Formats: sequence, structure tokens, C-alpha cells
Amino acid sequence: MSRKSQGIDIIASMDAEIDDFLKHSIGIKQKRWSSFIFHQGTLYGRRVVMVKSGVGKVFAAMVCERMIDQYNPKAIVFSGVAGALDEKLEIGDAVISRDCIQHDLDVQALGFSRGTIPYTHYRVFTADDKLRMIASGIRLRGKKIMEGRILTGDQFMTERETKRRKYLTDDLKGDAIEMEGRAVATVCTLNRVPFLVVRTITDKANGTAPQDFNRFLPVVAKNSFKIVSSLLRKI
Ligand code: ADE
Repeated sequence: MSRKSQGIDIIASMDAEIDDFLKHSIGIKQKRWSSFIFHQGTLYGRRVVMVKSGVGKVFAAMVCERMIDQYNPKAIVFSGVAGALDEKLEIGDAVISRDCIQHDLDVQALGFSRGTIPYTHYRVFTADDKLRMIASGIRLRGKKIMEGRILTGDQFMTERETKRRKYLTDDLKGDAIEMEGRAVATVCTLNRVPFLVVRTITDKANGTAPQDFNRFLPVVAKNSFKIVSSLLRKI
């Protein structure tokens, strides 16, 4: 596609998170790059490019940079699921990123605070105000939608992990935890592309997190799709 696209483009990490976007889009054309498929189509009257990154920060960063270089988006929205750190969050609720921090970036031994990219001022990556405000105003029947801090790292958090890492809430003040958001936030910020991460809760990063994740993923991912597609229609 030419550089003139300027749509709101979508990244998700798993099939369950991207499937509804593809199902509801029309006129899809696909382009393969590396091991990723970029889908260009129209969703509720908006031109969008959608891609499944796969899990983790590296894949997310790769597809995000490619998305920006190749498709020239006006903004990028990451849509998917997360584990809850804030006790007020229940399964199916949503967190709209106020900002993102990488919780597994730890160079404290050299005097950098947790999450800081050494020798830079980068630590907290703030989402786009306008996207955030619109998304926070969306209503989902019976579910909470709140703004919060997304923590990202290449670990799936269970009871043992979360207890060992008290700093997730005490120091980093995370509300939800996942595995891609901050990677997308970084690539977008460095390219001056506005971003938003929308995450719905599959589990509470506790002892039942693995079972809850598998059980609720297909249902809960739909809530994220509903919020993001509603956001697209409101912009
Ligand atoms: N995504 C959904 N649940 C998660 C968890 N408990 N840890 C990391 N990423 C997640």
C-alpha cells in the first residue's frame, strides 16, 4: 500500500484477539511479510490494516515497526486480553492504557529505576489522550471499563510469579499485565505515532490464571473487539 493510508491500524497477538476484526471486515487483501500476514480491509466504513503479531515483545515490536513503515497509520491500537493486578477488576472488564511500562526491564544494578531503558529518559509510555478519552467513554453492559497502567513482560503471571514480584503493584503501580503493550507503545512513541492499548481481563494473575486464561480467552477477547470497533466508529 502507498504511504497515504493514515487509518487507525490494529495489532493483536493471538487468533482469538484478531478473529473478530477479520470476520467483520470487508474487502480484505492480504500481504505477507516475514512470518506475519497484514490484512488490509474496511471495518465499519474505516480503512484498517490488521495484523496478528504472535506473543511477546519482540514480535509485537517487529509488526509495529513494519505497520508504520509500510502502511503509514494515523494511530495504532493494540487489542487483546490481560491478567488483572488491580483487585477491582473482574473477568471481562477492560483496561484502557493510560500508560505502559516494561516490568521485566531491570537495570537497577547500574542505578536505573525498574522499567527505564538505560541511558535514555524512556520509562513510562503515555497513550494518546484523545483515543484514551473516547475509549474510556464506551459502555459495555455489565462490565467495567477503566483507564490504567499496563505492565508488559515476557512472562505469564500466576500466583507464584505475582507474589514474588510485589513490585508490580507496589512500585510500578500496574493495573493489568500482558506481554506486548509496551513494545507497541515504544515503537509508536519513537515514530511519533499515537497509540492505545485496550485489554480485557481473562484472569487475575493468580493460582487459577492458566485455567481462567484458557477458559475465558474466546469470550473476553470479544469485549476488546467491541470496544475497539466502537472506538473506530467514534473517530
Ligand atoms: N495475559 C493474560 N493473562 C496474563 C497473565 N496472567 N500474565 C501475562 N499476560 C497475560
